Formats: sequence, structure tokens, C-alpha cells
Amino acid sequence: TQVLSVASECVPLVKTGGLADVAGALPAALAPLGVEMRTLLPGYRAVLEAQPEAETVFEIWDLFGGFARIRRGHLGAQVLYILDAPHLYDRDGTLYLAPDGHDWADNAERFAALSLAAAMIAAHGIEDWFPDVIHMHDWQAGLTPIYLRELGAAERVKTLMTIHNVAFQGCFPAQMISTLGLPPQGFTMSGYEYWGQISTLKAGIMTATKVTTVSPTYARELMDGAFGMGMEGVLASRGADFSGILNGIDEEVWSPPYKSPEGKVAFKAALREEMHLPDSDGPLCVVISRLTGQKGFDLLLEALPALLEQGGQLALLGSGEGHFESAFRDAALKHAGVAVRIGYDEAFARRLIEGGDAILVPSRFEPCGLTQLYGLRFGTIPVVSLTGGLADTVINANPAALAQGVATGLQFYPLTTEALTQALIRLCDLYRQREVWTQMMTNAMAQPVGWDTSAKAYAALFAQMVAEDETEGN
Ligand code: ADP
Ligand code: GLC
Repeated sequence: TQVLSVASECVPLVKTGGLADVAGALPAALAPLGVEMRTLLPGYRAVLEAQPEAETVFEIWDLFGGFARIRRGHLGAQVLYILDAPHLYDRDGTLYLAPDGHDWADNAERFAALSLAAAMIAAHGIEDWFPDVIHMHDWQAGLTPIYLRELGAAERVKTLMTIHNVAFQGCFPAQMISTLGLPPQGFTMSGYEYWGQISTLKAGIMTATKVTTVSPTYARELMDGAFGMGMEGVLASRGADFSGILNGIDEEVWSPPYKSPEGKVAFKAALREEMHLPDSDGPLCVVISRLTGQKGFDLLLEALPALLEQGGQLALLGSGEGHFESAFRDAALKHAGVAVRIGYDEAFARRLIEGGDAILVPSRFEPCGLTQLYGLRFGTIPVVSLTGGLADTVINANPAALAQGVATGLQFYPLTTEALTQALIRLCDLYRQREVWTQMMTNAMAQPVGWDTSAKAYAALFAQMVAEDETEGN
């Protein structure tokens, strides 16, 4: 099967969150399964600078107000297509935000352009390569099936919409219908209309051949108003065409420098020294996260005193909403057992995973979550809320799991300060039972968290989409 993956970010070139890791890892994971996945990525400055030798293989004379070329680069051993459109992507600021911190005023055009370019590649072929399937990641790629239809290629080319986070819905004013070149007759409840606006996410959900999200539990939760954020009915309408496929992590990139629990000792000592944390007989807990409402850190701030009282410590790396940043900075000033670094720092993130005893992920909702998977692989015990991918990846240390010797972490429910506090107290207690703790670390490090199973699931889904076409289409 030949698949064009369309993503707005991709490791190791550009990243703001877990979507980049997934888009970056899937092509290599699928290659041994006979799926050739090529990736289309916007030509942000960082991408073009990283691949200066990428040559033009496709030209688009007018892509939303400017000339665009598609350059052929590489993503490891796989092909990367870079949408080089300076009027859309060659600028200061971040992927989605202008230097003043607001969304780019032309985000609708910037990502409609990505979707349209994907459709053009599929319709016309590129370097004599014709994708059977387009794999769309999140709202940024959601308009692709509509453009495919406009170009007359919707019969031949199948589409998969993957939802990484339903909170981001790609909503734009209805006045943009003609600017974006969308068919006006599609602006209905069963099309891309959403509460009077355009939603590119809804467009993708309604028009893609199949829809997935990044864990089975989040797929179920999304049918519920409390999690669906308005898309619950839309997703329910897709019935069996909507499912959950769990994310993995790249086990080569995320490989611990030690092979057994004892190996962590030296890394923990180094981390304490780096963060000026005193010695303690309690667990050193770490956090690596965007600091936004989704991630539940208001609960952690409230539960923190209980953790410290038990001898636990906290080392946090994150950036995001100002009030979280300052609350954690204040906590670090107030408590010797709390160390905080505000910012984005991949090397430091790794040192936290290597040196920490436990990693805390108290999210209100979490489509999959990747840092708990890093934690498992490095024997850094995850303490997570019972939601989304966190529910699917951690074996809670309940009495049955402990008796069987299979626990890999702790889960708490409901999403309250009280429940998190209890989990942190339980964590400190388990940490002091050295045999039980070492067993948990060993289990965690042995738990498969790579792409093997899920890459097969994607490959099977792609094959099914193509085969259904062959049986229906003649
Ligand atoms: P989300 O995509 O919702 O942010 P994930 O857990 O899926 O959550 O992915 C987050 C990714 O971003 C992980 O790879 C994590 O290590 C990384 N990350 C988040 N914050 C930081 C930071 N401040 N510094 C370095 N890496 C970070
Ligand atoms: C989103 C979700 C996160 C998930 C990531 C990759 O950013 O918030 O839970 O792991 O996408 O799929």
C-alpha cells in the first residue's frame, strides 16, 4: 500500500506535541509491513534549513496567493515532501502562533494549502508515485477529502482521518468558504458546517473513508458529551468506521542507558545534583508537559504538600499558561523538595525520565499521552489519571495486580485532588517496599510500548480501505 501522511509537525524537524512524534515514527514502523508511507509537511523555516539539498519535484502556480513548490527531502530512510510556500510558512513566530502570541491570522489558508497540496499530489501523482490512501493528522489536514473530490480523485484515493486531540477543531468564519475554495453545498450539518462556522476537523471526520483516534478508551470517551467537545454526535454517526489505535513510541530513540532497575541510581543522583534537590528517602517525581488546562496540574499543585510530607520530591519541566508557570515557580521557591524549569528542552526531558522514580500525568483528558510510555520504558513509574490512553497503557498497582506481580504504575479516579493525593501517598508507600518497587520497575521496563502492534493495525486498516474499494468499485 502507498500512503501519503499529511501532518503539520513531524519529529525530528518540528514539534509542539505528541502528534509530531507519531507522524515522525509511523513511516519507519510501517515500512517492514509493506506500507510505503511518504510524508507531506509545511516548509517552515526550520524544515527547509534542515534539508537545504531538497530539490523541487512539483510546482503549484497559485496556492492561496503565491507560488509554491514541493521539494523532496527525507525522513530517515523514507521520503519527505516539503511544501515550500514562503508566503505561508517563511516567517518568525511558531508553527501556529505569530510573535504576538495570537494564532496567525491566515491559519485557515496556511493549512487549507497543506490539505490542497496533498489532494493535488494524490490526484496528479508525484514523481510517478500515486498514493492509495491519504493519512490526515488533526484539523490541519481535515479538508483533504473535500479537495480530493473537487479534483475528481475521491473515488480512487481513500482517506484516513486521525484525531490526536478533539479540543482543536479548526474553526473559521463561514465567510471563508469561497476563500478556501470549498463547495458551498457542503456547508451543512452533514458536511463541514459546525455551529455556523467552518470546522476543518468536522470536515475530515464527515468525509474521510475511515476515522481513528489514538487510543481505544479515548475512542469510547469521544462518544460522550463530557469528552467529545461537541463532536460526539458527529463521531457516533461514523459507527464502525471510527476506532482507536494506540500510539507507540520509537523504542530506538527512547532507549534507556541502563538495562535493569539498579541502573537508575546514578542518573537519579545526577538529576538531584543538577536540580539542587536534597537527598531524600522518598520518590523523585518528574513532570514533562505542556502546562495547559488539559493536563490537570491544578490538582497536582493542590496535592503537592501531601507528596512532600511523605518525603517525595518534584522536578518539573514545562511551559504554557502563565498562571501555571508562576504557580510552579512559587512552589519551587517555597519548598526545598520542588525544582522547576520553565521552557522546552528535549535533552533535559530525557534526563528527567532517566533520573526520575515516577512520572506524573494527572490529565483531565488524554487522547493517548506519550510521556507515560517513556516512563514505562525507563522504569520511571507512571502515576496517571484513569482516562484515554493513560487507562490503556498502565497496569494499576491494585491488590490483584500486586498479588500477580504485574503492576506497572498507579492510576487514580475520579479526577479530584483527593484521589490524586491518595495515589501519591500510595506511591510513596510502594516506593518504600523495595522488593515490590523493584518488581514494578522491572515490569514497566519489560512492557511493550513500541509500534509493533499498532503499526500492524494501521497496515491492516489501510489494506482494508483499499480492498473495500476493489470489491465495491467495479
Ligand atoms: P501532548 O501532545 O498533548 O502535548 P503527549 O504526551 O502526547 O502530549 O506528547 C508530548 C510530547 O512533548 C512528549 O514527547 C514530551 O516529552 C514533549 N514535551 C512536552 N513538553 C516538553 C518540554 N517542556 N520540553 C521538552 N519536551 C516536552
Ligand atoms: C495529542 C494528545 C496526546 C497524544 C498526541 C499524539 O497531542 O494530546 O494525548 O499522545 O496527540 O497522538
